[in-house]
Amino acid sequence: MTHESTDSGRHRGPGPTLGWSAGVFLVVAAMTLSALVAACGQGEKTLLEADPGAVPLAPSYDAVRAILDRNCVPCHKGKGSDLSVRPNLETCEGVLGDLGRIVQDAVQLEKMPPGAWPRLTEEEKLTLLRWIQNGACAPCKPCP
Ligand code: HEC
Repeated sequence: MTHESTDSGRHRGPGPTLGWSAGVFLVVAAMTLSALVAACGQGEKTLLEADPGAVPLAPSYDAVRAILDRNCVPCHKGKGSDLSVRPNLETCEGVLGDLGRIVQDAVQLEKMPPGAWPRLTEEEKLTLLRWIQNGACAPCKPCP
């Protein structure tokens, strides 16, 4: 079984954002690893259920934006709304500032969106992960 997470670090070089990228990369790597282990074991529901061909290898920020707008922003929007909880996922800065927790809560633990809201689909999760593995390029943090 192979997965591109093993060599996704090669796109990164040393630089001012290394700490940030490394942190996010560790979260994603740990999560991918546990998904792989689970897949080889009990046949639990894992990320590998996503059809790898259904998601672009390097999803755009727009693709991620659409997922967040539909599933998260109804609650996670800027101040001034009745339903505005942190983090603010309406802005590029808000999303990039909380990538670790977004992955943890929406992909790993499946506790966001909460309650009766449908969780992200496997394809939506894979879109998020591949976008992060490719450097989480976005208008507020263009890739080199
Ligand atoms: C129905 C409203 C609702 C939706 C939709 C929703 N959230 Fe949340 N979210 C909350 C509330 C309320 C909190 C704060 C209380 C809590 O942690 O449960 C929260 C907290 C969070 C936190 C911070 C958790 C912490 O440790 O403090 C993150 C990260 C998060 N949500 C991510 C997401 C993502 C990503 C999505 C979409 C995939 C999403 N949420 C969709 C209501 C929502």
